[in-house]
Amino acid sequence: MEKPNITTGQQFSATGRYMSSERSSDRFSTEPSLLTPLKWKSFPLLFFCAILASVCISCRSKEISATENEQAGSKNQQRASAGDITLPAPESQTDSFLKIVTKRETSRSFSDKTLSLQKVSNVLYAAFGINRPDKGKRTAPSAHDWQYVDVYVSDANGLYLFDAGERKLKEILKGDIRSLTGTQSYPAKAPLNLVYVVDYSKMGSGNVPRETAQIFGSATVGAIMQNVYLYAASSNMAAGVRADIDRPRLRKTMKLNKSQSIILAQSFGYPQ
Ligand SMILES: Cc1cc2nc3c(=O)[nH]c(=O)nc-3n(C[C@H](O)[C@H](O)[C@H](O)COP(=O)(O)O)c2cc1C
Repeated sequence: MEKPNITTGQQFSATGRYMSSERSSDRFSTEPSLLTPLKWKSFPLLFFCAILASVCISCRSKEISATENEQAGSKNQQRASAGDITLPAPESQTDSFLKIVTKRETSRSFSDKTLSLQKVSNVLYAAFGINRPDKGKRTAPSAHDWQYVDVYVSDANGLYLFDAGERKLKEILKGDIRSLTGTQSYPAKAPLNLVYVVDYSKMGSGNVPRETAQIFGSATVGAIMQNVYLYAASSNMAAGVRADIDRPRLRKTMKLNKSQSIILAQSFGYPQ
C-alpha cells in the first residue's frame, strides 16, 4: 500500500474526517489503514493539532464568558434603569479635587488683613485669567469665547479693571468704594471685592437675543465666581458672592456705559 503523504493533508480528507459529505461508516472503515502508517511520523503533527485545538477552545470559552458578562451587565443596567440607583460614597477624603469642593462655602465675615499682590494675582487668574496663552483662552468658559465679562476689583485704595492679557490692574478711580459693592455690611471690611460686569457689546455683532445674552452673561459669571470659591477653598481663604447690590448707585460710581451690566459681586480675603 502506498504510504500516505502527511504533508499535503489529502489523506486526512480521504478519511472523511473533514468531509461531511461522506458517510460515517466510510470514515470508520478507512481509519485503521490510514492510522497504521501515520502512527509515528504523524505524532508531532497530531500533538500540534491537539495543542491548537485546546488553545482555540480556551479562546472561544473566554469569548463566550465575555459575551455572557456583557449580557449580564446590560441586564443589570436595564434593572438599574427601572429603579433607584445607589451610588458609592464620593472619594472626597482622598481625591484632591473633591477635597477642595468639600471645603467650598460662602463666607460673610472677613479679616481686614490685606492681601499680597501674589494672592490678588492668583485669585484673578483663577477667576478669569488666561490659561492657554497661545489661544488667549480663559479659566472660565464664555459663549463663542467672546469673553464678555469684565472683572473689576475694589479695595481700600480704589477701583481697578483686571486686564488678564497684560496681567494688570488698570485704575478706574481712586478711593474706597467697597461698601457700595453690596448692601450688607461685610463687603466694606473684606480686603477685596470683585464686581462681575457683563458687556453685551462684546457678544458678537450684537444680534444675540436679549434673553440669550443674559443667559450667556450669567452662566460665565457663575463659572467665574465658582472658580474664586474653589481657589478660596484650596488656599484656606474666604469668599462670598452676592446679588444684593444697589446697582444704579454702583454703576453710576463705576461710570459704566449702557452696554454694561453688573451681575454679581464677590468678596475675597482671609477668614475672620
Ligand atoms: C446668584 C446668587 C446670589 C447670591 N446673593 C447673595 C447675597 O446677596 N447675599 C448673601 O449674603 N449671599 C448671597 N449668595 C450666597 C448664597 O446665600 C449661598 O450660596 C447659599 O446660602 C448657600 O451657601 P453656600 O454657598 O455656603 O453653600 C448668593 C448666591 C448666589 C448663587
